[in-house]
Amino acid sequence: MENVGRKKLGQQGLCVSEQGLGCMGMSFLYGPPKPEQEMIDLIHYAVGRGVTFLNTSDIYGPETNEILLGKALKGIREKVQIATMFGLAWTNGEFGVKGDPAYVRAACEASLKRLDIDYIDLYYQHRVDTTVPIEATMGELKKLVEEGKIKYVGLSEASASTIRRAHAVHPITAVQLEWSLWSRDSEAQIIPTCRELGIGIVTYSPLGRGFFASGAKLLESLTDDDFRKVIPRLQSENLEHNQALFQKLSEISLRKGCSPSQLALAWVQHQGNDVVSIPGTTKIKNLDDNIFSISVNLTADDMREIEAIFPVDAAAGARNRADHLEFSWMNSETPPYNTLH
Ligand code: ATR
Repeated sequence: MENVGRKKLGQQGLCVSEQGLGCMGMSFLYGPPKPEQEMIDLIHYAVGRGVTFLNTSDIYGPETNEILLGKALKGIREKVQIATMFGLAWTNGEFGVKGDPAYVRAACEASLKRLDIDYIDLYYQHRVDTTVPIEATMGELKKLVEEGKIKYVGLSEASASTIRRAHAVHPITAVQLEWSLWSRDSEAQIIPTCRELGIGIVTYSPLGRGFFASGAKLLESLTDDDFRKVIPRLQSENLEHNQALFQKLSEISLRKGCSPSQLALAWVQHQGNDVVSIPGTTKIKNLDDNIFSISVNLTADDMREIEAIFPVDAAAGARNRADHLEFSWMNSETPPYNTLH
C-alpha cells in the first residue's frame, strides 16, 4: 500500500498529509447528504490510511458537515488537521459574504462548538468580503490566533493584492484555490505571489468536480438537486468540447497505467512541495484510488504533454455559475484600510 506522506504548508509550522480530504460532498451540493455512519467510517478509514488533513466549511450543509466531522473526530482529534472556513452565509434569506470582525469571531466560536474541538488547525476566509478592508478581517483572525482558538490562518479565492495586504497583518499559512487541469487561471499571479511570500497552496476541486473521473458520463449519475447540473462546463453547449479533452487525458492515462482521475490528481500533486490537493469523495474505493495517484510519477515530458492538451483556457465554459464567480478571486479587492478608525 502507498504511503501518504506529509507536507509543510506555509512557514508557520503547519504540517498536513500530502493529500487531504474534501468533505463537502458528504453533506452538501453534490446530491442528498450521504448516510452519517458511512461518512464517519470513511473519515476514520482515511485517517487510518494517513489522509489526516480534513476540509470543511460552516456553509456546507449549512453547518451539518461540521457537525458530522465533530462526531467523526471523537477519539482521533490529535491525529488530524482540521481546516474549516467562514464568510459565506445566509442572512435574512440572502446569500452573501461576511468578513467584519464581529462576524469572524462569532463564526469561529460557532464552528468550534459544532466541531466540538478546542482549536481549529487552519481557519480560512472562504470568500473575501469586498465591503470590509482585509486588514480588519485579519485583525480579528490574529486575535483568535493569540487566544488559541485557531492555529493558522488561510484565505480562499483571494487575489494577489488581497493576499499581500492580509499577510502584512498576520502570516497567511495557506491559500485555497480551484486549481486543476481545467482551472489554471491562478497560475499567472496568485501562485507566484504565494511562492514569493512562502504561503502554502491548497487546491480544491482537483478532479474537476468529478469530471476527470468519468467525463460527460458524470452527468448521468447526478440527481436533480446536484449543484454540478448548473455548472457551465457541464452544460450541453460545452460538453462536447470538454469531453474531447477528457478523451485525450484518458489516452495518456492508459499509457501511464493509471486512471484519468489519477492522472489529473498527479498533475496537481506534481506542482510542488508547497501544493496539497484535497479531492472530495464519499467512497472508500475512490479514496483508495486517489491515494494511489501519489505514486503516479510524471516526467517533465509527461507534464508538457498534458499541459499541451490543457492550456490555461482549454475548457469551454466558466468554472462556476456567474453568481458564484462574483465571489471569486477576480472580485476580491477590499476597500483601503483607514488606520485612524
Ligand atoms: P470537490 O473539491 O468540489 O469535492 P473534486 O475533488 O474535483 O471536487 O471532485 C469530487 C467529485 O469526484 C465527487 O463527486 C466524487 O464522487 P464520490 O463522492 O462518489 O467519490 C468524485 N470522485 C472523487 N474521487 C474519485 C475517484 N477516484 N473516482 C471517481 N470519482 C471520484
